[in-house]
Amino acid sequence: MASLTIRKLDESVKTYLRLRSAKNRRSVEEEVRVILRELIEGREEPLTPFAVPPAPSPAPTSPRASALPEASVTLIIGGGIAAYKSLDLIRRLKERRVEVRCVLTKAAEQFVTPLAASALSHERVYTDLFDPQSEFDAGHIRLARDCDLIVVAPATADLMAKMANGHADDLASAILLATNRKILLAPAMNPLMWNNAATRRNVAQLQRDGVVLIGPNAGEMAEAGEAGVGRMSEAIEIATAAERLLRPPLPRPLAGKRVLITAGPTHEPIDPVRYIANRSSGKQGFAIAAAAQAAGAEVILVSGPVDLDDPDGVNVKHVESARQMLEHVQASLPVDIAIFAAAVADWRVANEGEQKLKKTSAGMPPLQLVENPDILATISKLRDKRPPLVIGFAAETEHLIDNAKAKLARKGCDWIVANDVSPATGVMGGDRNTVHLLSRKSGGEDGEIAVDSWPVMTKEQVAIELIAHVAKSVADNPLEPAS
Ligand SMILES: Cc1cc2nc3c(=O)[nH]c(=O)nc-3n(C[C@H](O)[C@H](O)[C@H](O)COP(=O)(O)O)c2cc1C
Repeated sequence: MASLTIRKLDESVKTYLRLRSAKNRRSVEEEVRVILRELIEGREEPLTPFAVPPAPSPAPTSPRASALPEASVTLIIGGGIAAYKSLDLIRRLKERRVEVRCVLTKAAEQFVTPLAASALSHERVYTDLFDPQSEFDAGHIRLARDCDLIVVAPATADLMAKMANGHADDLASAILLATNRKILLAPAMNPLMWNNAATRRNVAQLQRDGVVLIGPNAGEMAEAGEAGVGRMSEAIEIATAAERLLRPPLPRPLAGKRVLITAGPTHEPIDPVRYIANRSSGKQGFAIAAAAQAAGAEVILVSGPVDLDDPDGVNVKHVESARQMLEHVQASLPVDIAIFAAAVADWRVANEGEQKLKKTSAGMPPLQLVENPDILATISKLRDKRPPLVIGFAAETEHLIDNAKAKLARKGCDWIVANDVSPATGVMGGDRNTVHLLSRKSGGEDGEIAVDSWPVMTKEQVAIELIAHVAKSVADNPLEPAS
């Protein structure tokens, strides 16, 4: 049976579900079940029970945040004076595209109301272990498992003691015992409680159990005249720690490296309105730029005319012709790694018309072609500023490996990525690619070339694999810094 992940639904559907579930005082999941049951029983309500206002935006989301994958947290609020800060924590988590479902302990309800937590989280708030509404399908198990992380803030001395000893006599402790997700605790208590031998034992036990702690910080206590270690970390610190657990930083093997990539076709003008072009879409080069950027490199992408969005965080220079591409490539040097994935036109029109060429009775205008600069060979053969690693692409329609080997030798680059672009492969403009990586064999006879054939992959996978090879090569043979 397929499972449905509510946070992956369209924003408008989620808004509808949230509003409808809030109105009926049910969780979103329960509401979905009710809707499905009603549909099956033929008693469905009209599709719009009330007007759906635009999706609530409790806090502005930055462009960075909107690019993040969604995640979800079950936030357990314990019964401490710092519970008020957890309301701000809900907001901070939502700013980071984290959905929050709150559980309040009985003691927490003395400090903050479920209504406040519900208004900020836009979700129903859970307080009872024996809640007939959510317990018909073991709600505490869903709250424990249907999330990516459990955060306890404030984690009171009492709640930590229960956790350390495996108690499960209320909703919060039952969730904490029933979960297989990571748990982040933000302890908050009086310094004497924090330093008490029992609390020390419990904290040590919880750390052995793999629970992660943030804080407590040192500072003034709520009690007049008291200070020491015991203040709950600030909401922003807890949200940052939660984000680190939800989205651990990716390895950045190309951090500090400057990578130059070319992509797309070139357009060689015939006159002001016509040009010679090829079928390159630029997808492979753009995917390589995105993969290099994700690997931590500073990326410059020189692109011919393409119908693609600029990859995030990449410095993109848009050009038309081969000569403009070479100009921008040269201006971008020095770089540590250059990857020439563009399908640069071999020829351009020598007698480019200044005005639109007209049909005449004299017949077709003769088009004289002259050779374009060879960008790969030019950069590979530079004396100064030659990038330490130069990678070319060989798009061939026949004798793929032989032609690619000859190209590697002729152009003077270090690696060639060879691909078969004959029409039957659908590579030109398509989303998949079958490539062979050719490189000079290290330690082999002069001129010996290694061929590594990869299976058919998407262009994104080819890009990730190529960048992984680049990163390994950089790690094995540290490059002289680009200067
Ligand atoms: C005004 C007040 C403030 C409290 N603040 C804290 C606190 O910051 N940390 C703590 O561990 N307990 C604190 N307590 C004690 C807890 O509320 C008590 O131990 C409660 O049982 C904890 O419930 P819980 O397990 O649901 O968090 C406070 C009690 C009162 C009356």
